[in-house]
Order: sequence, then structure tokens, then C-alpha cells
Amino acid sequence: MANTDPIRVGVLFSRTGATARVELSQLLGTLFAIREINDAGGINGRELVAVHHDPQCVPSQYRVLAERLVCDDRVNVIFGCYMSSTRKAVMPVVEKWQRLLLYPTPYEGFEFSRNIIYTGAAPNQNSALLAAYMTRNFGVRVYLVGSDYIYPYESNRIMSDFILERPGGSKLGERYVRLDATEADFAPIVQDIRAQRPDFVFSTVVGKGTRLLYQAFAEAGLDPLRMPIASLTTCEAEVSEMGAPSAAGHITAAPYFQAVDSAANRSCLTRFQAMYGDEVAPNMCWEAAYFQVHMFARAMQKSGSDEIDRLLPHLLGSEFDAPQGRVRIDPSNHHTRLYPRIGRVGTDGRFAVVAESHLGVDADPYLVQHASNDWSLRGEAFGDIGA
Ligand code: ACM
Repeated sequence: MANTDPIRVGVLFSRTGATARVELSQLLGTLFAIREINDAGGINGRELVAVHHDPQCVPSQYRVLAERLVCDDRVNVIFGCYMSSTRKAVMPVVEKWQRLLLYPTPYEGFEFSRNIIYTGAAPNQNSALLAAYMTRNFGVRVYLVGSDYIYPYESNRIMSDFILERPGGSKLGERYVRLDATEADFAPIVQDIRAQRPDFVFSTVVGKGTRLLYQAFAEAGLDPLRMPIASLTTCEAEVSEMGAPSAAGHITAAPYFQAVDSAANRSCLTRFQAMYGDEVAPNMCWEAAYFQVHMFARAMQKSGSDEIDRLLPHLLGSEFDAPQGRVRIDPSNHHTRLYPRIGRVGTDGRFAVVAESHLGVDADPYLVQHASNDWSLRGEAFGDIGA
């Protein structure tokens, strides 16, 4: 008799806390894919069942709940994590128990675990294009603002290298705010930005602070058409929270925006809206959360097991027609081939894609392919990055 037991998978995204808004979109992207798989008959006739816990954006809670998913709920695969601090909290758990984490968020790179699949962008897939686009269109004097944890520190270090290697490149400030920062924390930073007059601001502020930064920028009368904020994480989730007046004119690098012009993307957005309405704004993290579940399901269809040693040979090297384009998991580093894009928010509060790579770009998480004087050439490699 065929095995018809349900397959339980762990889901670790937060519904409350600093980055809950984007994590809720990742949660619904995950559940959406699970529903599609089950509606199509499950995996070899077996239903996929999500076991979700809410770690409330606290890294130690991710570790505790990952352990619970493995030891009590008996799952082999976990879809989860937004902040890099939370991925780093889960990594020892999946390594200890030989389980698999699929992680759908852009991050700072410089990491490999046999027990993690990375489906968000690494720095060569977002920061490199952003540096090329911003320096070409605005200038080489940058001011860095970030949240106080590992992803902003590391991303600012990488962006600083990209900028300082350009002729005249300079860093006019580097400031960090707590994850629970308030308006009062951003006011002096925006005052300093106004005094320093950089060519652009690079923000690695995540979660609730994002709205506060962009609103403080607007209230100070700074002009995003001349001095925009550039980001790797400010996506449709944050823009829908801050509103068009604060967001218009600002820039984000990501592999996916709702505006991606393809029938596959439009169809996916329509199907999602039919099931989940407007509860969340689809964005790059939602999209990665969605396609990674489908990639897992296809691999398991072939392996017949979600046990890591049986699953990995089918997941690694696999490809999928995601809303952003055809993606592929690189067997050598567990990262994903993605499509670097630049989006700019219009007065309607929606991103328009202003530059994009029509070819998928493999992840280079340790930036080993790139000589230190090679950054400007790397911009050229992306083709038209806009004028
Ligand atoms: C992040 O912390 N990787 C956004």
C-alpha cells in the first residue's frame, strides 16, 4: 500500500515583533504554496501539513521553536527566518539534528551550511547592482543607516567597499538604531544627513523602523529625486506600511517586485489574491518563501523522502519557473540563481523596475569571483543599469 501519511513541515515566521509585517508575507507565501501543492494532489498523494510557531522576532525563540519542531513535532524540513540573527540561531539546531532549513530572505552572504538552502539574494545579486546604479546615477558619497544587528553591519561593510573603491568614493556617516527605535532616534540622524548632503543614503534598517526613517526623511523636506534612500530590504511590505508620500522616489535592489513583467508573475499574483486577498503585499521575501516550497515539493516527489540525505541530491541543481524567472539551486554553495533588479517607488506607491538583469545571476556568497578593483566592471556585466 502506498504511504498516504501527511508530511509535516515546520514554519518559523513571526506574526508579532519588529519584522512581523514582512514575515507575515513570508508565512502566507509559504501557506499559499502548500495549498497549491495540496490542491494538485499533494506530494505523491501525501498532504503537506504546516506546523507553524511564532517566534515573535526574538532570535532565542527561533532556536527554542526550531528545537521543538524537530524534537516534538518531528519535522525534517523548516521554512523560516527573516533576520540573519534568527537564521544564525536556527543553524546550530538544524546542523545538530541533521535537518534542513530553507531561508527566503536577502542576507549578507559569507555563510554556508549543508543544512541550509538560501533562496534570497546574496550581496553579488543585490548590493553590487545597487552600488553600480546609485554611483552612476547619483554619485559616490554615501551615508549608511542600519538596524543594530549582523545583517546591517555586514551589508554596510560590503557596500562601503563597493563605494570606497570608486574614484572619489566616500562614506559621510554610518549610524545604527535599535530594532525598537522610535521617531526620536531617527530625528538626529536625518538632521545629520541634511547637514552632510550625501549623494544617497544606504539604508539597512529593517522592520518597523523603516517607516520611521522614510517618514523622518520626508518630514525633513529631503528630496528623494535628488538624494534617494537605497535599500536591499525596503520592499512592498514596508512601502505599504509607510504610504506613497514617504516612499515615492526611493530605490530598492531585489530579485522580485510585483511589477515584474511576465505572465507567470501576473498569474501567481492573481491566484494569491484570490486565496488571501490584500492581507499582505507580495514582495521579494514572499516570492522566495513561495517558490522554495514548490522546489522542496518537487525534490521530495522524486526522493520520496524529506530526510536530508535523500532530499538534497534532488533539491541541489534543481530549477523552477518562479515569478521572478527561472531559478536554480547551486549544488556548490546551496544558494540560488536569481535576477538582480532595481525598483523605484512611484507617486502611486508602487515599485517600477528601472533596471534588471535578463539573465539569472548565480550567487557568489563569499564574493570570491571579484577582484577588489572589479566593481565598476561588475556593474557593466548587468547590462543596462539605467541612466
Ligand atoms: C536580514 O537580516 N537578512 C534581512
